[in-house]
Amino acid sequence: MIGVFDSGIGGLSVLKALRERLPHEDFIYIADSAHAPYGQRDDDYVVARARAISQYLVSRNVKALVIACNTATAAAIHVLRAEHPGLPIIGAEPALKPAALLSKTGNVGIMATRSTLASAKFRALMASQTGFASFTLEPCDGLADAIERSAKSRDSAELIAACARITCRMGSFGTQKGQMDTLVLGCTHYPFAAAHLRPLVGPDVQLVDTGEAVTRQTVRQLESADALRPCPDPASTGLVSLFTTGQSDTLHAAASSWLGLSATSKMLLF
Ligand code: DGL
Repeated sequence: MIGVFDSGIGGLSVLKALRERLPHEDFIYIADSAHAPYGQRDDDYVVARARAISQYLVSRNVKALVIACNTATAAAIHVLRAEHPGLPIIGAEPALKPAALLSKTGNVGIMATRSTLASAKFRALMASQTGFASFTLEPCDGLADAIERSAKSRDSAELIAACARITCRMGSFGTQKGQMDTLVLGCTHYPFAAAHLRPLVGPDVQLVDTGEAVTRQTVRQLESADALRPCPDPASTGLVSLFTTGQSDTLHAAASSWLGLSATSKMLLF
């Protein structure tokens, strides 16, 4: 199995991309919803949660670990790699480089959690892109939570209002000089708000998330470890096991509406 985790349901956006590319692999997904959101917690808390979840996934013999969370990657990937040498560990980080390459106006907006934007890892990433584009950073307090609530209630009113406030604060979107023509979704929850962001930023703005980059990196690492599952029958699909430390109905609703998964999620307490 490939282990995947996030603070909640956001990592399902990464799981979706992984399953599209690796349909015959088995996955185990953990949503740490009882301890979400990570984005407004301190690093020690996020590191402790990431360690507990990783230890569980390692005890289930995963062949790779995907941190489907930008916030946990920034805070904890170095700790997890030191603790589990030999295990391929793939993290998620805001797609600044692809966005800078895509942008024609040279103005890129970045939506992420407050703690991702404050992390040393993110600051180093920004520094590596100096001169390639101008970045407008927006800490989106409460947005991941609003996405979780909307997945459960299927009511989008609060989420639409939050997206409107955020894009309005960020400035002007479009393809004219001085406008942001590219928007980085730097939290794995945000692709699930893309349908509400699109009318706010207009049809020509490119939305860039991390699912594909994480998937490419996962395939690369599994290939070099010779650990990709051979696929004799191209029609066969792997199993997906869903676990949550919180309410299973939220994970179940999101997995079935976003990924068409009928796997029942189980509670997991640690
Ligand atoms: N999905 C997470 C990320 O990619 C964070 C959401 C949260 O718990 O604040 O950063």
